[in-house]
Amino acid sequence: MSGVDDLERGLVSAVAAAADEATLEQLRVSALGKKGSISELLKTLGNMSPEERKEKGPQFNTLRDRVSEAIAERKTALQEQALNARLASERVDVTLPVRPEPLGTIHPVSQVLDEITAIFADIGFSVAEGPDVEFDDYNFTKLNIPPDHPARQMHDTFYVSPQKDGSRHVLRTHTSPVQVRTMLSQQPPVRIISPGRAYRVDSDATHSPMFHQIEGLVIDEMTNLGHLKWVLEEFCKAFFEVEKVELRARPSFFPFTEPSVEWDLRCDRSVPGKITFGHGNDWLELAGSGMVHPKVLSMCGIDPEKYQGYAFGGGIDRLAMLKYGIPDIRPFFESDIRWLRHFGFAPLDIPTLDGGLSR
Ligand code: DAH
Repeated sequence: MSGVDDLERGLVSAVAAAADEATLEQLRVSALGKKGSISELLKTLGNMSPEERKEKGPQFNTLRDRVSEAIAERKTALQEQALNARLASERVDVTLPVRPEPLGTIHPVSQVLDEITAIFADIGFSVAEGPDVEFDDYNFTKLNIPPDHPARQMHDTFYVSPQKDGSRHVLRTHTSPVQVRTMLSQQPPVRIISPGRAYRVDSDATHSPMFHQIEGLVIDEMTNLGHLKWVLEEFCKAFFEVEKVELRARPSFFPFTEPSVEWDLRCDRSVPGKITFGHGNDWLELAGSGMVHPKVLSMCGIDPEKYQGYAFGGGIDRLAMLKYGIPDIRPFFESDIRWLRHFGFAPLDIPTLDGGLSR
């Protein structure tokens, strides 16, 4: 009896002390395996008298059950310990910085849009928006382009199917209708830019049927073209990241401005494939502009006797191509992942004037 008790005590304490599953398994084999101490004990029952077997049998069985139970419990405990150790060692530190690659890249047009917005916001402009599908009235008529005006042909318009009342919407041919929307919804002072998509029936290496423009509008009591020149100069310096620029004004014609002026930026193209600003003997067309036509002001509910202002507009895609050396406009809108990786920008580097525009 005491031999069985000793054996149990010895085995149970060895099981409790087993430090890993391999040691525990060795213990199990040495006690319950074919030649194990308990198995050997059970074999002796065969040679016993029936009385002796009646007494020893239950003792031996209890011994076997208790030891098996102790082994099973220890095994569960060891497995739990191992799992906790693994969980602790494989913990993810969520405060580590994100890896930028899986987020994709920022399209050069989005990048340039953000840069332009940051620059104009710094000068005091807010951003206004309008829909891509626009009223004919806002895209043309209220900009002093009446139905029979030849400028309508120049715009190669995409028309949308007529409404029930016969009126037609267009895909806006420029961002200028946002001027109309802004003046109809607010009284001066107005100081907005409106970057966005525009559409024309046109497609080659430098034209896409969908392209991006930016519109600017400032209306106040004294605003004049001198102010516009300063704004454009400040914009060019910040955008092209140069100390000085030179602008040239050319007389022009737009139905919605009077007088109308086009602006060119002095540049140097003497090194093939490269363009730099602030010096050189070449000129780059930058933007159309002018003083908002009094007729446009009054059609949009603003008193032309009291208020005046300037407007300007130009392409954004071309600015992106120039600034980042992109030769062809067509891949801009083809979603080729290799092109996007090559010309795209890191998603978390948001352009700001103090933090840097184009790091
Ligand atoms: N809307 C003109 C275009 O698409 C650009 C433009 C010229 C906008 C003169 C203006 C402006 O606001 O005053 O070609």
